Amino acid sequence: KRKDGQVKISISTKVFGFLINPLEGVITLQQCFKEAQPTDVFLVTCPKSGTTWFKTLLFAIMNRDLYDYDDHPLLTTNPHACVPFFETYAIENATNLRPDLSLLATHMPYTCLPDSILVSGCRIVYVYRDPKDLFVSLWHFANKIRSKELPTLILGEAFEQFCRGVSIGGPFWDHVVGYWKASIEWPDRVLFTKYEDMKNDPQLHVKKLAQFIGYPFSIKEENEGIRQKILDLCSFESLSNLEVNKNGLIRLGQDMVLENKSFFRQGKIQDWKNYLTTEMVERIDEITKHKFKELA
Ligand code: A3P
Repeated sequence: KRKDGQVKISISTKVFGFLINPLEGVITLQQCFKEAQPTDVFLVTCPKSGTTWFKTLLFAIMNRDLYDYDDHPLLTTNPHACVPFFETYAIENATNLRPDLSLLATHMPYTCLPDSILVSGCRIVYVYRDPKDLFVSLWHFANKIRSKELPTLILGEAFEQFCRGVSIGGPFWDHVVGYWKASIEWPDRVLFTKYEDMKNDPQLHVKKLAQFIGYPFSIKEENEGIRQKILDLCSFESLSNLEVNKNGLIRLGQDMVLENKSFFRQGKIQDWKNYLTTEMVERIDEITKHKFKELA
């Protein structure tokens, strides 16, 4: 974000070499975004932290009065179409704003958030994932969506880039630290939650999520099992087996079209054990320890 209030959007093809068409431009906040409202919810993640999953959970929680579970938009629409990314949405809709959207996602670092998000009092949900799993997921994703003309990205090369901080949204660890500090300073505004926690105890963490964004489950809803219905609807098994997510395409930028299935691989914890060498594990753990020292 520049001092004059403009945001420079620059997505480089050098980041993992998988962005097919780079986007570059300078846009004003007014051009790209409605003013954030106190009731808005922003989902913030580093790519591969479980963005797709949390998009569905938040969408299902916030819109649960509108839809039945056997005729729900998430059964026929890819999560990224239900909950757009601020970055791509902003560019595509610069002249066609939809002020009705109250749930958006972004990979932007904390320091790059538009001022209106910071001052409006809206809720920010940040999702953290173990960097070892996140990296393995990112490497698979990069190869899946990489231009056919480019050679396969070698695991070791991708690892070097990741450890040096080359990633969408900026260096992983700094991204986390930015939102962690914000969650300590404004606990009512920024929820720092973890992919692993949601996996291990989804009942508890989806309840916390709903409470935090101001959509707590009522006793009547609890008796009707709404919480479980939302978890079932948004489960990896359910989403990844839907026709739209197996065979559909999603446009995520001016010329970036991806297969919906590229957002669903395994949805598991500790898959890194199948990919990383002992040296890689030691290195990533060391960086994590060093970078998170100030958070302890
Ligand atoms: P893996 O590659 O480890 O399987 P993002 O949505 O931020 O791009 O993250 C993608 C990761 O989240 C992938 O991880 C994907 O499989 C996993 N994922 C997608 N939907 C999920 C769900 N409903 N539950 C758990 N994990 C999910």
